Amino acid sequence: MDSVAIFIIQESHLPCPATLYLMQIGSLTIENPFVLAPLAGYTDLAFRLLCREYGAGLCYSEMISAHGLVYQQQNTLDMIRTDPTERPVAMQLFGTEPEIMGQAAAILSKQPIDLIDINMGCPVKKVIKKGSGAALLRTPIIAERIIKEVVKNSRVPVTVKTRTGWNHQQIIAEDFAKMVEEAGASAITLHARTWTDGFSGQVDWEMIKKVKEKVAIPVIGNGDLLCHDDGLAMLKQTGCDAVMIGRASLGAPWIFSAKVNPLPSMHFRLKALSRHLELIAQLFQTDRILAKTKNHAGKYFKGMPGSSGMRQKIYETKTFQELRDLIAAVKTP
Ligand SMILES: Cc1cc2nc3c(=O)[nH]c(=O)nc-3n(C[C@H](O)[C@H](O)[C@H](O)COP(=O)(O)O)c2cc1C
Repeated sequence: MDSVAIFIIQESHLPCPATLYLMQIGSLTIENPFVLAPLAGYTDLAFRLLCREYGAGLCYSEMISAHGLVYQQQNTLDMIRTDPTERPVAMQLFGTEPEIMGQAAAILSKQPIDLIDINMGCPVKKVIKKGSGAALLRTPIIAERIIKEVVKNSRVPVTVKTRTGWNHQQIIAEDFAKMVEEAGASAITLHARTWTDGFSGQVDWEMIKKVKEKVAIPVIGNGDLLCHDDGLAMLKQTGCDAVMIGRASLGAPWIFSAKVNPLPSMHFRLKALSRHLELIAQLFQTDRILAKTKNHAGKYFKGMPGSSGMRQKIYETKTFQELRDLIAAVKTP
């Protein structure tokens, strides 16, 4: 399916007015080209719902082990929980055996989801050692078999998230993207760094542009976008179809919407955090995920006066209710 990016500017029905664009990934239409990245430990159902409420056009789940799904491990099954109100949603698989990846895609296909993404970019040693994530950049033949197997077993369009290459001597993004397209994927996300870069070093916008010129499927650009304007600049300069934001969305789910002050008031932040805590309370056994919740909560105060004192108080809370009471008691001017 060819990439169709129609640019329409209009007001959003969402709480924060956004500039809306339409992007087509296979049969799926995305109404805002700002999408939430997969972030292990963060992009659970509550955070995805929050980001959608603040205007994200599409949200990606944390990476989900194909092996864990096929062997019905409870912690993996918990991760595929979804809700119709969060759609469109992409669930991301990682693994290295094409057959297992295909079986996992069939299981995921029974969920009410919109895309299955394949992780071909994760740099973490534990993942690399087993030949999955970014290691697949070194074994494109296996990567190709995985994509074909997942496409064959999937009810929804399949996308791939990857990096520019293994290291700076082996930048292969253009050829890899062509392979991804020919194997049947409907879009590709490029975190424009190599495996050896990890999360530092310059993000290669030029490579996003080259990949966009090389393939007909939509290209999603990713890496170090710190505010909405950064995303708009990447869209304009590289011609990519959408931009993916990861770390900068933590404690700042409004980043997906235009016209929100990039440094919003404390009142605005607390409203978002309170909503986040409300969603967590509705969806999870709150005290089981207290550490993770505190981690999220601390990020809403980033850059504000007194933020380190506030973070300290957050980390000292012993229960979810204590955390909620602490946040409810914060006075704003
Ligand atoms: C804590 C953390 C967890 C991540 N988890 C995943 C993951 O599960 N799957 C994936 O493809 N990338 C993962 N990434 C990479 C991000 O999706 C993204 O490509 C990277 O952070 C660059 O984007 P950013 O600068 O906007 O954060 C993770 C990154 C971080 C920092």
